[in-house]
Amino acid sequence: MVKICCLGAGYVGGPTMAVIALKCPSVQVVVVDISVARITAWNSNQLPIYEPGLDDVVKQCRGRNLFFSNDVEKNIGEADIIFVSVNTPTKTRGLGAGKAADLTYWESAARMIADIAKSDKIVVEKSTVPILSNPEFLAEGTAIKDLFEPDRVLIGGRETPEGKKAVETLKAVYANWVPEDRIITTNLWSAELSKLAANAFLAQRISSVNAISALCEATGANVAEVAYAVGKDNRIGPKFLNASVGFGGSCFQKDILNLVYICECHGLPEVANYWRQVIKINDYQKSRFVNRVVSSMFNTVAEKKIAVLGFAFKKDTGDTRETPAIDVCKGLLGDKARVSIFDPQVTEEQIQRDLALNKFDWDHPVHLLQPTSPTAVMKQVTVTSDAYEATKGAHGVCILTEWDEFKKLDYAKIFDNMQKPAFLFDGRNVVEPEKMRKIGFIVYSIGKPL
Ligand code: NAD
Ligand code: UGA
Repeated sequence: MVKICCLGAGYVGGPTMAVIALKCPSVQVVVVDISVARITAWNSNQLPIYEPGLDDVVKQCRGRNLFFSNDVEKNIGEADIIFVSVNTPTKTRGLGAGKAADLTYWESAARMIADIAKSDKIVVEKSTVPILSNPEFLAEGTAIKDLFEPDRVLIGGRETPEGKKAVETLKAVYANWVPEDRIITTNLWSAELSKLAANAFLAQRISSVNAISALCEATGANVAEVAYAVGKDNRIGPKFLNASVGFGGSCFQKDILNLVYICECHGLPEVANYWRQVIKINDYQKSRFVNRVVSSMFNTVAEKKIAVLGFAFKKDTGDTRETPAIDVCKGLLGDKARVSIFDPQVTEEQIQRDLALNKFDWDHPVHLLQPTSPTAVMKQVTVTSDAYEATKGAHGVCILTEWDEFKKLDYAKIFDNMQKPAFLFDGRNVVEPEKMRKIGFIVYSIGKPL
């Protein structure tokens, strides 16, 4: 029996290993992590991450050929193939701070493997780092589907006989369910740069449509119509053209910053600046949204209640890493608003922690964090367990995540319970502005005529 051990039981390690265990019954998979809380949760009925379909897959394999453990040493020792899927945050200090990937966790995992291993091991890199790699392309919210039917699996290996043999061994694991023509093998740098470039291209599409959304608002065009017409061109395609309050998630910004850093290190400042602009437009989009809220509400939101619907960085996940909601809420709090937040999957504790953190600190161990005056934040923020409570008595509502349930809310009831004039700021184009205007709301939707 082939034994796989995965270091890192996070958003990538957990779902990926669960799917490998499901699809390869003859392989034993153990996911290990240094976090006791995370492993305890993976072994309980309340998994540490929310992902549609994940519960089912885990239930089928856990205890059969899928195990979660804190015993890193034993499981590394016994494994034939070791996946490394630890976090690779942006560095917060020293050389490359604010751009380069912090490889502390990756290096410590690599050293641990070197110390413990007594026999030959195949080490597979899942984390996004410029070293050696099998980068992961799953998106949160659709992780199980993406793992079941990936567009491609990319394996970068050394061009030596040992390297080629290792690539073939890993290929055989994926070949259990992925068609061969979707398993691409390349050299190491091609694999890593393909990962960074894919995320940069995806993020660039969003920043492109978001830049156009600002022009749509200024001219009276409708960004949904423009995106539809543009996306009808076969060469461009319709996906990933939804204008929004900005992209979030743990990887787009981190990977682009890393790309910028690598370009700079290779003496390519023009290329670095080109990609940096994708992040600048994303920051612009978030602050443009906050400015719109404040300027519409008579240039002040001080002491006004603003309801925020949705805090996760996208629907179908409880993940809040780099969610645009953090910057929008901080902007509103900076203008002294009282913010009342509802998200179907994000806990109050998580929201409070996110709003108290400094930029880039979220992916680092707790002892390095320096919260920004959490008590001030606590006083201005409430977190509710439903949308009606969040919006009750509010002057304005901001929709920041495109949860399906926000489409079905009783907006007439929400309007009745709000202060007047009642403002609705839709950062995800969830509602139909004309319907909302008929109810009585003053509506602002990204990229739509005012
Ligand atoms: P995560 O923070 O959810 O999980 C990482 C886990 O690694 C944590 O639980 C941490 O405790 C553990 N860890 C850290 N050092 C360890 C060690 N030495 N031994 C054992 N465990 C250790 O991160 P994630 O979202 O799963 O991302 C992991 C990597 O995958 C990153 O490089 C990221 O860029 C990449 N990636 C993420 C996604 C995504 O959608 N989240 C998609 C593709 C690629
Ligand atoms: C993204 C990529 O899609 C994955 O292929 C990649 O593996 C992953 O990053 C990673 O490396 O971590 P993810 O961040 O989970 O996946 O989710 P996406 O669906 O890409 O959404 C990212 C952000 O862009 C979200 O905030 C989403 O709301 C926003 N978005 C997406 C838009 O604003 N408009 C769109 O049209 C699409």
